[in-house]
Amino acid sequence: MKKIAVITSGGDCPGMNAAIRAVVRVALTYGIEVWGIRNGYAGMIADDMTKLDSRSVGDIIQKGGTFLGTARSEEFRTLKGQQKAADNLQAHGIEGLVVIGGDGSLTGAKQLSGLGIKIIGLPGTIDNDIWGTDYTIGFDTAVNTALDAINKLRDTASAHGRVMLVEVMGRACGWIALTAGLAGGAEIILVPEQPFSSDNICKKLVESRSKGKKYSIIVVAEGAGSAMELGKYISAKTGLETRVSVIGHIQRGGAPTVADRLLASRLAERAVRALVEGRSDIMIGYKNNQCVEVPITDAVGKKKDIDPELYRLADVLSQ
Ligand code: F6P
Repeated sequence: MKKIAVITSGGDCPGMNAAIRAVVRVALTYGIEVWGIRNGYAGMIADDMTKLDSRSVGDIIQKGGTFLGTARSEEFRTLKGQQKAADNLQAHGIEGLVVIGGDGSLTGAKQLSGLGIKIIGLPGTIDNDIWGTDYTIGFDTAVNTALDAINKLRDTASAHGRVMLVEVMGRACGWIALTAGLAGGAEIILVPEQPFSSDNICKKLVESRSKGKKYSIIVVAEGAGSAMELGKYISAKTGLETRVSVIGHIQRGGAPTVADRLLASRLAERAVRALVEGRSDIMIGYKNNQCVEVPITDAVGKKKDIDPELYRLADVLSQ
C-alpha cells in the first residue's frame, strides 16, 4: 500500500486530533503517503484533501475538535454522493482510508467499502455507543467535563437545598449519564435503557428529604427525556425548589484526557498496521485493555448496551 487517507466525520470529539496524528506518523514509518480529507464526507465529495506530513500534525495532540474539520453530509447518504466520493479517492490513487467517527460515519465507511475502498474505522464519539469497543475516543474527556459540571452544581444545590437536574448528551444511549452520575454521586440517574416513572422519582426525592438529605442531584441522559420538563413536573408535584442545567456542547470540547490520547494513538497505530497487513472492512476497538479488530458490519449493526452492573451499583450507592 502506497497511499492512504484519513477523515474525521460526524460530531467531533476530543482525541480526534491525536488519532489523525498517529495515523500520519505511523503510516510514514511504513513509507506510506497520507492525505487528510477536510470537512468529513462533504469534503470527500468536493475533493477537498491535502497531503499531510509529520509537521502538519504537530501541536495538535492536546487540542479538542479536529483540525481537518468535520460535517454531517446529506449528499453522502445517497449512492450518487458515495460514488463521487469513492471516485475522488481512486483518482488520487488512495487505496486505504481510516475513518474516525461515530455510528453514522462508520456506516458511511461500510458503504465505501462496498465501492472498492479498503477502509478501517476508528470509534470516535463522546457517546460510547459503538458495539465492539469498551470505550470510544472522546468519551472519557466528555465524562470528565460532565463530572466537573456536576461537582459545581452540587455546591450550589447544597447551598440552597435544591433539587438539581443535569442533562447530559449521549444521543439514544446512557453511558455518559451513567458514568458521570455514578462518579458524581448522583441520587438518581435516568438513562434511555431503563424505564422510569416521574411519580416514583418524586416519591424518592420526598423520602430522601425525610431521611435527612438536604439536596438532590439527578443526572438525565438526553435520550431519556427532557430534564427541563421533568424539572417542572418535580417542582409542581413535590414543592421542592428545582433547577435544571443542560450542559450541551461543552461536553464535546476541551483538551483530551490522558485516556483519550492513549486510546486514540493506540487504535490509530493498529488501524495503519491492519491496512499494511492487508486487512480492511474492520473497526479497531478496545476490549479488556487490548486493541481488537471487529467487522465493520458488526460495529454498526449491533447495539451496545450500558453495563447493568454499573447501573445497579449507582443505585446502591445513592441511598
Ligand atoms: O454524537 C455526539 C453528540 O454530541 C450527541 O451526544 C448529541 O446528541 C449530538 O452529537 C449533537 O449533535 P450536533 O452537534 O449536530 O448538535
